[in-house]
Amino acid sequence: MLDKTEEIELKLLLEAIYQKYQYDFRGYSPGAIKRRLTLAKEHFDCRSFSMLQEKLLREPSAAPEALDLLTVQVSEMFRDPSYFRALREKVIPHLKTYPSLKVWVAGCGAGEELYSLAILFREEGLEARTMFYGTDINTSALKKAEAGVYEMERIPLFTRNHQRSGGRSSLSDYYTAAHGAAVFDKTLRSRAVFSDHSLVSDSVFAETQLVSCRNVLIYFDRELQDRAVCLFKDSLARKCFLGLGAKESLRFSRHAEAFTEFVGEERIYRKNGER
Ligand SMILES: C[S@@+](CC[C@H](N)C(=O)[O-])C[C@H]1O[C@@H](n2cnc3c(N)ncnc32)[C@H](O)[C@@H]1O
Repeated sequence: MLDKTEEIELKLLLEAIYQKYQYDFRGYSPGAIKRRLTLAKEHFDCRSFSMLQEKLLREPSAAPEALDLLTVQVSEMFRDPSYFRALREKVIPHLKTYPSLKVWVAGCGAGEELYSLAILFREEGLEARTMFYGTDINTSALKKAEAGVYEMERIPLFTRNHQRSGGRSSLSDYYTAAHGAAVFDKTLRSRAVFSDHSLVSDSVFAETQLVSCRNVLIYFDRELQDRAVCLFKDSLARKCFLGLGAKESLRFSRHAEAFTEFVGEERIYRKNGER
């Protein structure tokens, strides 16, 4: 629990980060942002949030490290395999009826989710007609996503997840091992564009058929979640699909009536027909 002074300092710190760097964490869920800022405070050896504010205002070189601490980067390939299985079995048959497809992976981090979808779309014969857009506010994560290189220790988990998602091939078909790392096949990202985009302040991607935004809304307060869901609603073509993370839902969203549950237990929604 923070005392009143710390609460004030924390608010001022978020305002300072916004004013100085235009990263807007002011509408993130208070519990999550408090935890992340406390971590950053300890990491930079600051005794108070005010000291951290001073550091970030005076030392722009500390900002990228702070951004890494403020954005949670936990991810896996084929994370929650049943989600990917549901996409494969229930959503893909609808997507197969489109001549061309746009997939937006919002909050893609270091690319694990986007590569999972690229592999899935290849296995289902949709790769050649699909463009993937991976967006995030963390530019160092986006660089990792572009490189498509993951530590070898993570591969057994990715492989198990892929199999459980109904993978039609072996994950090892998609990477080569080099210097303790798995380098994913460049052709998987030949139809992917990664870009810096914030769900807090940026605008919409046009006419997508699938938006996958997993484990991002959980860090936002209700108002910010509504803003992001509104972006997804405006981005999706009619009757197209939105996938959320295991702990996220549209149940309390202001835009819930624009969607119908498609695979409820996997938080996959379908945008309604009328605009
Ligand atoms: C826990 S990771 C989720 C990664 C991946 N989607 C998954 O489910 O494995 C959360 C990601 O959301 C990104 N993020 C946080 N705030 C964001 C914002 N305002 N706009 C876009 N991405 C954001 C973080 O940088 C981080 O990469």
